[in-house]
Parts: sequence; C-alpha cells; structure tokens
Amino acid sequence: MALTTDTRITLSDGNRMPIIGLGTYASPDVARSIGEEATKVAIEMGYRHIDCAHIYGNEVEIGRAIRSKIADGTVKREDIFYTGKLWCSFFSPELVRQGLEISLKDLQLDYIDLFIMHWPFSIKPTGSEDPSDPDKPIVYDNVDFCSTWEALEACKDAGLVKSIGVSNFNRRQLERLLSKPGLKYKPVCNQVECHVYLNQSKLQEYCKSKDIVLVAYSVLGSHRDKNWVDLSTPVLLEDSVLASVAAKYKRTPAAVAMRFVLQKGIVVLAKSFSPARLKQNFGVFDFVLTPEDIKTLNGLDKNLHYGPFKEMKEHPEYPFHDEY
Ligand SMILES: NC(=O)c1ccc[n+]([C@@H]2O[C@H](COP(=O)([O-])OP(=O)(O)OC[C@H]3O[C@@H](n4cnc5c(N)ncnc54)[C@H](OP(=O)(O)O)[C@@H]3O)[C@@H](O)[C@H]2O)c1
Repeated sequence: MALTTDTRITLSDGNRMPIIGLGTYASPDVARSIGEEATKVAIEMGYRHIDCAHIYGNEVEIGRAIRSKIADGTVKREDIFYTGKLWCSFFSPELVRQGLEISLKDLQLDYIDLFIMHWPFSIKPTGSEDPSDPDKPIVYDNVDFCSTWEALEACKDAGLVKSIGVSNFNRRQLERLLSKPGLKYKPVCNQVECHVYLNQSKLQEYCKSKDIVLVAYSVLGSHRDKNWVDLSTPVLLEDSVLASVAAKYKRTPAAVAMRFVLQKGIVVLAKSFSPARLKQNFGVFDFVLTPEDIKTLNGLDKNLHYGPFKEMKEHPEYPFHDEY
C-alpha cells in the first residue's frame, strides 16, 4: 500500500502511530519559542506525530503549541500522537510516575500517547538533569529496567499513557524485557538512531518478529549538536551517493534519506524548525525509490552512531557494545 502523510502503523496494543513525526530536540542555545512556533506550523501543515522528551527542556513550549492548535480547532487532542520519554534518573520504580507527571504538568495534557524509556541504563538523580552540563558529572545507577517497566505498566493502567515503549535498546535488552516474568504489556516500539549510515536491518528484523515497531531518529544525520555528536563524523546530507540518487529523482538528499527509511516500514522522525524544510520533509510521499536504489543506499551502511552517548560506555547496560 502506498505511504501517505496520513499513514499510521498499528501498534501491538492497538494504538496507531503516524509514520512521520516531528522531532523537537534543539541545543540549549536555540530559543524555546522557535520550537513552539515550528510545532504550530507543523500541525497546521498536517504533522500529527510529535516527538519530545523531558530532558529536551521544552515540553512547556511544545505542549503550549499543541494546546493552541487544539484550542483554535485545527486538531482534536485525539488526532495528535505525542511521544514523551522517561529520563534515566527517574528509573527507580517509585520515581517513574513522578517523572511522567512532571511531563504531563509541563505539557498541560491529561495523557501522553506514547511514553518510552529514553535509554536502557539508569543514572543517579543529581539535581541538574542536563547530561551535557560539565559541572554535574553523570553518576551511574543500577536500577534494573525490568522494574522500571512494571511501574510504566502501572502508568498505562492508570490511563496516564496510552502506549509504552523503549528507546536505544539492543536485541539482548529487548529479549530480557520480553521474557520478564509477569510481563503485562510488551514495548510497542524501540526508538533508535537509524539512517543510511546505520540502517539497523538486523534490529529491524528482530523487532518485526516480536511485533515491536522501529522508530528512527537522526534520519537526516542528526542535529550535530557538539554536546552529543562528534563533529569529525561525515555529514550525512553531503554524501555523494545520496546526492546522486537524489539528483535522479530531482529531490533533495534529505528527501531521499527519509524515503529510504520510510520504505523499510520504519517510522521516521525528522526535526526541523524551518517552515520551508518542515514542508519539504512532509512532502516525501510523492515519489518512490526503486529496489535498485534502495540496494545502493543499503551499501552506505557503516554502523555509524552520531549520538553514541559515550559517557555511558562503562555502564553495564550500555547498548552499543553489542553488534545490534
Ligand atoms: N531517543 C533518542 O535517544 C533520540 C536521540 C536523538 C533524537 N531523537 C529524536 O529524533 C528527532 C530527530 O533527530 P535529530 O534531531 O538527531 O536530527 P535529524 O532529524 O536527523 O536532523 C535535524 C537537522 O537536520 C536539519 N534539517 C531538517 N530538515 C532538513 C532538510 N530538509 N534539509 C536539510 N537539513 C534539514 C535541521 O535543521 P533545521 O531545524 O534548521 O531545519 C537539523 O539541523 C529529535 O529531534 C528527537 O525528537 C531521539
């Protein structure tokens, strides 16, 4: 079936996730009001899936943008699919609901459509939650994500979230969660970095076999925020092979990078705060890459993580020591 801007993927719990979502992370030097305006513009254009997180520090503004578009009649609450993320310092079971309630309060929403564990590892709460804050070093914690998960299941039962999932989990960690004794709800998704340099084909195959939807971030090669990304990595949108495929279709490298992931059946998150690019990114449904071009683009894979979160690499739950 042809993909359109309205295509939604049915999750294992019956909820439906729009196949294209707006990313909202921006480095702290970008005024929060810019993301707020961009979110309003995106909703007016037809974006219905909005990805954010407590740790991005902008849920107040993103929530205000969503509510203003509900208030002016552009959308109803049930049209919007909002994803929030539980930060790693809220993994102790007694803190999980508190972490969610902070997001709900900031957003001024009654519920979140999808709430995911941001990473598989836990860190100790230190007061400042900004992991890029050099004055507050990250201190590892050892909360088992299976016990965090039980507290998330309770949040779903309480009606505060419609769906629960994970992010940045590797296969072994997913297996452990799925085989947790007494598991009540499976994670509906695994949100991971995924693009032409990291196409995640093995993780996708595994997730598919377990009815877990893969959601891709950094599809355009990431925000390249120096706090998170090694700036000596190649710029994805400047890749010459990507450029030659794009030229064939008279499209931009960004459009081809997004189609490549969408055509694999993976949900795409793309961040832009520029109206012109928001429009361009929402317009990737009017062309189809051929199987040969997909094959060519598959050849670009080099297992490159733009956001490896290396500060956590000694943590026993660091996900990227495994192949996938
Ligand atoms: N779960 C996680 O751990 C995790 C990690 C990272 C990201 N995420 C989520 O995924 C979202 C997207 O990932 P990302 O922020 O890493 O970056 P991304 O979407 O790969 O790329 C964003 C960058 O590309 C630029 N851009 C957007 N559209 C473009 C176009 N058509 N042509 C050229 N450049 C374009 C943006 O600039 P302009 O804004 O100026 O257009 C921005 O600098 C995030 O915002 C966040 O919601 C989740």
